[in-house]
Amino acid sequence: MLVLMAIVVASSQQPQKWTEQAQLDFLKRHWQVPIPRQGQSPANFSALEASLDPASCGACHLAQFEDWKTTIHSRSVGPGLLGQMPGLLHNDPETAVMCYCCHAPLTEQQEVSPTGSELKKNPRFDASLQRQGLTCAGCHVRNYQRFGPPRRDGSLESAIPRDQAPHGGATRTPAFERAEFCMGCHQFEEGDRALNGKLLENTYNEWKNSPYAAQGIACQKCHMPDRRHLWRGIHDPEMVKRGVTVELRTNQPQYAVGERLEATLTLTNSGVGHYFPTYVTPKVIVQIELLDASGRPIAGSVQQESVGREVALDLSEEIYDTRIPPKGTHTMTYIRSIDQPGVRLRAVVEVYPDEFYRRFYEAMLAGSLPMKQKQLIRQALAEAKRSAYKIFEKEIRLS
Ligand code: HEC
Ligand code: HEC
Ligand code: HEC
Ligand code: HEC
Ligand code: HEC
Repeated sequence: MLVLMAIVVASSQQPQKWTEQAQLDFLKRHWQVPIPRQGQSPANFSALEASLDPASCGACHLAQFEDWKTTIHSRSVGPGLLGQMPGLLHNDPETAVMCYCCHAPLTEQQEVSPTGSELKKNPRFDASLQRQGLTCAGCHVRNYQRFGPPRRDGSLESAIPRDQAPHGGATRTPAFERAEFCMGCHQFEEGDRALNGKLLENTYNEWKNSPYAAQGIACQKCHMPDRRHLWRGIHDPEMVKRGVTVELRTNQPQYAVGERLEATLTLTNSGVGHYFPTYVTPKVIVQIELLDASGRPIAGSVQQESVGREVALDLSEEIYDTRIPPKGTHTMTYIRSIDQPGVRLRAVVEVYPDEFYRRFYEAMLAGSLPMKQKQLIRQALAEAKRSAYKIFEKEIRLS
């Protein structure tokens, strides 16, 4: 018995060999959700080391904390989620827990938790931790142990002996550098909700079928450059401009009255590692119109197309899917006869990151809701409307 224990202790201190299978097995254990309660904090931990609050991690890992605070992961328990929760917790607590699995995955963040085969009021519920959404601990801490990527030189050993390092050091694994690390929350599983034969969330599969997967460019390369905790996406104009190239062309440089204008506006998914956009929630509007000599829009000259995957509010059907696959293009062609002098052409590409939610919140507000929920959903609606921005705007003189 004693001999056996000695062997176990010795082998657990050996640096582990992380074969691909060992990494995938690790991720399966790591992403059991809801993430089991951390248990008893080790006796030698200070209050700071035992705290799950991101600000406590920030006392020593300031750079990650400063970045994380600016991200959507830190706001994943916002008014849109909170406004739906009271109803869900009351009528359908299983679904509420399912939502938390992605939005606030620690058991300590959830009002109810599985006890045996039932959901019961959670005595460890921490409301302040819940409001912080996807926290450091959600990705890095299991049973009070820290897990993280290999050191930057690729090594797995720690600089400080474990018994002297804060929080007992960390277990390092290349699994943190894999796309599969992000998959649990950004990819539905086979058998989950699909429309028109495509899963409602399919980001990992889109990436897997793209040239990026073949080149070993994982999600982290683009979304955590130099390991920074940034996770910029559709809500960030600069990120979108880095991934999408827009080109406006006309068939002639100048036009006389009566001549035929043929313009094309082309969006190329030049640097997005999956479809642009990947989710059903954003919508991109591509628009061309003509302006008269005094700069006013010419009536009837507007032409618009949408890039996105629009689904019905109750998720019962897909209305269209015009998203652009990696390295693919979307071209809008605009043909008009020029019928007055001094005409200008104006082209705009505008992104509405939360278009589905805008419609969804408006429908919620049209029904009846308790006052407190109504206020939250109103706030979520205002945020959804505010998030629109232009990535391209150009005027050209045609005559
Ligand atoms: C008292 C300071 C302190 C606190 C508080 C702290 N850490 Fe650390 N952490 C360290 C030090 C020092 C290391 C490097 C240890 C080593 O090399 O073994 C480290 C290592 C890590 C690592 C491994 C990656 C790396 O940079 O070496 C991760 C991941 C990590 N900590 C996450 C966390 C999280 C998450 C929290 C909050 C829940 C936290 N830490 C709180 C000091 C701290
Ligand atoms: C598989 C992971 C996953 C699950 C489960 C999940 N979400 Fe989300 N949720 C996301 C992701 C990723 C986004 C951001 C992308 C998007 O808009 O689709 C998001 C966005 C949202 C937003 C808009 C942004 C915001 O915070 O206001 C709301 C509201 C929301 N989810 C509510 C819910 C509710 C309610 C449930 C349960 C019925 C749920 N989610 C279940 C992953 C998930
Ligand atoms: C969505 C999951 C997620 C969250 C939330 C998260 N991290 Fe990380 N963290 C990662 C991943 C993935 C890596 C490795 C990135 C890579 O290798 O490119 C990492 C790397 C690190 C490292 C090593 C950095 C280095 O330069 O070697 C530290 C330290 C760390 N995280 C601390 C934190 C702290 C502190 C917080 C909260 C303020 C936090 N993380 C939140 C996923 C996360
Ligand atoms: C525990 C679940 C979880 C994990 C793991 C996770 N995410 Fe997220 N992520 C979310 C949720 C939930 C949202 C949406 C939050 C919201 O809008 O309320 C989100 C949002 C994002 C966004 C912002 C999209 C936008 O609308 O601009 C990006 C980018 C992103 N995640 C990338 C990643 C990457 C890369 C990884 C892996 C390193 C990762 N995520 C791991 C749950 C997760
Ligand atoms: C080659 C770079 C690259 C790779 C690899 C990549 N992304 Fe992205 N991602 C982007 C860019 C650029 C955007 C902004 C444009 C957009 O929203 O599609 C984005 C947007 C997002 C968004 C915002 C939501 C939306 O509707 O577009 C999420 C979530 C996301 N990525 C998750 C992931 C995950 C998860 C992976 C890995 C499976 C991944 N990304 C791989 C570049 C990349």
